[in-house]
Parts: sequence; C-alpha cells; structure tokens
Amino acid sequence: MADSRYDVVVIGTGPGGYVCAIRAAQLGLKTAVVEKDKTFGGTCLNVGCIPSKAMLHASELFEEAGHAFPKMGIKVGKPTLDLGAMMKFKDEAVDGNVKGVDFLLKKNKVDAVRGVGRIVGPGRIEVKGDGKTQTLETKGIVIATGSEVTQLKGIDIDEKRIVSSTGALVLGKVPEKLLVVGAGVIGLELGSVWRRLGAQVTVVEFLDRIVPGIDLDVAKSFQRLLERQGIAFKLSSKVTAVDNSGKRLKASVEPAAGGKAETVEADVVLVAVGRVPFTEGLGLEEAGVKKDNRGRVIVDAHFATNVPGIYAIGDVIAGPMLAHKAEDEGVAVAEILAGQAGHVNYDVIPNVIYTYPELASVGKSEEELEQAGVAYNAGKFPFTANGRAKANQQTEGFVKILADAKTDRVLGVHILGADAGNMIAEAAVAMEFGAAAEDIARTCHAHPTLPEAVKEAALAVGKRAIHM
Ligand code: FAD
Ligand code: NAI
Repeated sequence: MADSRYDVVVIGTGPGGYVCAIRAAQLGLKTAVVEKDKTFGGTCLNVGCIPSKAMLHASELFEEAGHAFPKMGIKVGKPTLDLGAMMKFKDEAVDGNVKGVDFLLKKNKVDAVRGVGRIVGPGRIEVKGDGKTQTLETKGIVIATGSEVTQLKGIDIDEKRIVSSTGALVLGKVPEKLLVVGAGVIGLELGSVWRRLGAQVTVVEFLDRIVPGIDLDVAKSFQRLLERQGIAFKLSSKVTAVDNSGKRLKASVEPAAGGKAETVEADVVLVAVGRVPFTEGLGLEEAGVKKDNRGRVIVDAHFATNVPGIYAIGDVIAGPMLAHKAEDEGVAVAEILAGQAGHVNYDVIPNVIYTYPELASVGKSEEELEQAGVAYNAGKFPFTANGRAKANQQTEGFVKILADAKTDRVLGVHILGADAGNMIAEAAVAMEFGAAAEDIARTCHAHPTLPEAVKEAALAVGKRAIHM
C-alpha cells in the first residue's frame, strides 16, 4: 500500500523539475516533487547559473572599478578584494533563489518529499531519506534528475586544487595560476571570474577552436577579445595527467593528436569538459527505461520514455544543457500530462555566455546553414558604430543576422557585445513569430540603445544599414 497517491511525481527540483511541478499543480494535477539535496533548485540555483552569475557580476564590477572608473572621472583608489565578502554576496544570491523555489512549491500546494527517489514499479517511487523509506503512487512520473560533471581519465577532482565548476565557485583564495581544461561555457565564464580577481589563466582546449557549436566567425572574434584581456589559450591540446604531489600542480599538456607533452604548472586546475546525464540509483535498468549511448534517457516528441507513464526532461535527455530549455520542457510535459498540447520549439533556444563581452546566439550558425545547403544573406553591424556603445565606451563586438536568401526569414542571430544576453530576447521573439529581417529592420528601436545594433544588422541583411 502506498503512503501517498498523486497524478504526477517529479524526481528532481532543478529548473526542469520545479517548473514542471508548478505548472502541473496550476493545471489541477495532484503533484509531488522528490529531492535528494538539502535545498531545491538543482544544479542551476545551487552550483550553476546563479552562483556563477553572482561571481561574474561582482568580478566585473571589481574590474570596472579598477580600470573603467578612473577614465569616467570616478576616483575611488585602487580597489582591494575581500573574497570572503564576495563569496557571501554569491551565497546570498543562492539562498534567495532556493528559498524562492521553496515558497513557490508551497504556494502551488506541491508536496515536497525529501530523499533519493527510485522507480520500483509502474507508477511507484520509493523515497529514502531522513532515515525513513516511503512509497509514492502516481499516474505519471517525470524524471528531471539533471546532470553531473564529466570526469577526465587520470585526473582526480578533489574540489580543492583540482576542481570542477562546483569547487571553482568556492575557492578560498585567488590562485596565482589557474589552468582551465576545456574552452566551453564553464571554462570561459569561471576563467573570466578568476582572471578578473587576479589569476593568470591558461585554457587548454582539445579542438582547434573555442566554444564549439557557436558560429565560427563569432567564436574567433570572441577568442581575440578574451586574449586581449589576458586569457591565454592552448588549442588542439589536451591535459593527460595532473601531478598533485608537490606544492604546485604539474599538468601534462599534449597535442590533441598525441605527441610530446609539456608541463604546465598551476595552483588550481579547473576541469570543464562538459556534463553527463545523472541517473544513478533511479532504478531505470530495472524499470526497463531505455538510454542512448551517452547515458541520456530516450524520449519521444512528447517527452515519453519507452515505459508507459514515465517521462523525462532537462539535462537528463538530449538537447542543450540549459536551464531555460529544461524549464520549457517542464511546462510542456505538465501540459501534456494534463491533456493539453505542450510543445518546445527547439529551433529557438537562446544560448548566452556571460563573460565580458557577452556572447549570445539563437538559431543557426553560418556553418550549420552551409552544411544544410540553405542559401542565406548575412547582415553584420559593429558596436563601434552604435551611439550608446560609443557613449559607454563599450564598443567591442557586433551583431550578425542570418536570413533566408529567398524568404528573408531570420534563421540565426549572433551577438557579441556588452549586454548581448538581454538583447538576444528580441531576436528569439522575432524568430518565434517567424519574422523576416525586414520586420526587425522596420521595428522602431529606442535611441540611444544597444539594440539599435540589432535593427542595423537587420538593415544590413538588405545592404542598407544607415550608420555604417
Ligand atoms: P538539475 O538542475 O541538475 O537538477 C536535478 C535535480 O535532481 C537536483 O536537485 C538533484 O539533486 C535531483 N536528483 C537527482 N537524482 C535524484 C533522485 N534519484 N532523487 C531525488 N532527487 C534527485 N544554464 C543556463 O541556462 N544558464 C546559465 O547561466 C547556466 N550556468 C551554469 C553554470 C554552471 C557552473 C553549471 C554547472 C551549469 C550551468 N547551466 C546554465 C546549466 C544548468 O544548470 C542546467 O542546464 C540545469 O540546471 C538543468 O536543469 P535540470 O532540472 O534538468 O537538472
Ligand atoms: P562545454 O560542452 O560547454 O565545453 C566543454 C569544452 O571542453 C569543449 O570545448 C570541448 O571541446 C572541451 N574538451 C572536451 N574534452 C576535452 C579534453 N580532454 N581536453 C581539453 N578540452 C576538452 O561544457 P562545460 O563548459 O563543462 O559546460 C557544461 C554544460 O553546462 C554546457 O553544456 C552548458 O550548456 C552548461 N552551462 C551553460 C552556461 C550558460 O548557459 N551560460 C554556463 C555554464 C554551463
């Protein structure tokens, strides 16, 4: 006999799980969440999006106070770092957010069950926690158990000197030398944080380029800007071992294709080579839920696994490992379970790297369009020609819009520049509505604002930018 009966039980309270639960409850379904960690919010709120953005914000202002303030006539002297206070600022950001989820779950009358959830039969979940075991019975199970750090063979993460993103967010002091393995999102965001706070940062990347998946032309400009800030890159290289026996770490760095290794010394090594789905202890094998060769739970277009009544969303399934993608899937699956037509448009999922400048994109890159044989026109507009960017003296980067050569429909937008992450929302809305570049070009944009560069790039698609 089960302890409780539900319409939906969601395992995991990351952005996928808690949003799914709230939407299900809104739709009148009796809903529970199961969470194994002390706080709600998953990777994103506890050790991901939120703490990393708090550190990016604080470290960016620290750098501005030292470099940009004097030329604006603000004399505050050389800023000094109180790392403990900065960490407290970050922890308060996390605390406020996870408490917010707690409040929202209660407000929506979602039952929160603490402990590790395991699927033990059709519609049955056993939860072990706080020294007790209880069983929940439910019509639908949503797996939202997220992802964990990818480990590198031969490199043992101790979260002190050899760290993942989790350890890199709680370092007790600024490392003199930080070696980052992986020039992806985490490596560049957290590498930026520690560089701004005083570390010498070297990034080792396996591929011959940084941020794979991002439009190559944008990635190359991005790399140049980061190099100008002092981040060093070793591309087409891999770290094969880290010797932690001495006072300083000694990393063996080899050409990606193999060859002679060099030794690079560092105080801290950050391993940021991706994340893998997390399904440990969930009982998927016993339940017969199929996974692909990368450990991702296989779902159909309605987020259903091969086992009736079991669904999955977020980092644990295929697609970009992004909080907003997990959230949208959470909403969609809740609506499907309530008999509605939930849907996620995977062609319009924005992607933002919160460095300075920010890199934001949505839709297709030039390489993807070329590979698909789609004829397109590109319109590009630099921030050096944007009035507000000039006023702020933040002129790095550009906006690039790719539009279908025949229909003018916007297929991709790429923005490298200050505040790109906020600007990409306009492009996403336009694409969701099937806009043509002409539509963006003819939309009145306030002056002087950075988004005027988006309008100018849209004008540039038709070779009629005004300010260039
Ligand atoms: P998760 O957030 O991983 O949540 C899964 C939850 O399930 C966890 O709380 C876990 O404890 C729980 N759980 C797992 N198994 C069980 C079980 N058996 N029983 C009970 N509970 C269980 N994305 C962005 O969009 N923007 C960003 O700026 C961003 N920054 C990031 C920065 C870092 C450093 C990292 C690591 C990630 C970042 N991400 C960012 C990615 C984002 O965090 C993930 O895409 C997102 O958290 C995925 O949500 P999810 O709900 O699928 O899983
Ligand atoms: P990533 O997939 O973004 O980048 C990993 C990088 O490591 C790639 O460039 C890859 O080529 C490289 N790499 C892989 N193996 C290597 C090796 N052996 N040696 C050297 N380089 C190697 O993964 P990352 O940065 O760990 O982030 C994980 C996930 O978290 C991402 O999928 C991302 O979507 C999400 N995230 C999102 C953020 C955002 O939206 N702003 C911020 C941080 C994370």
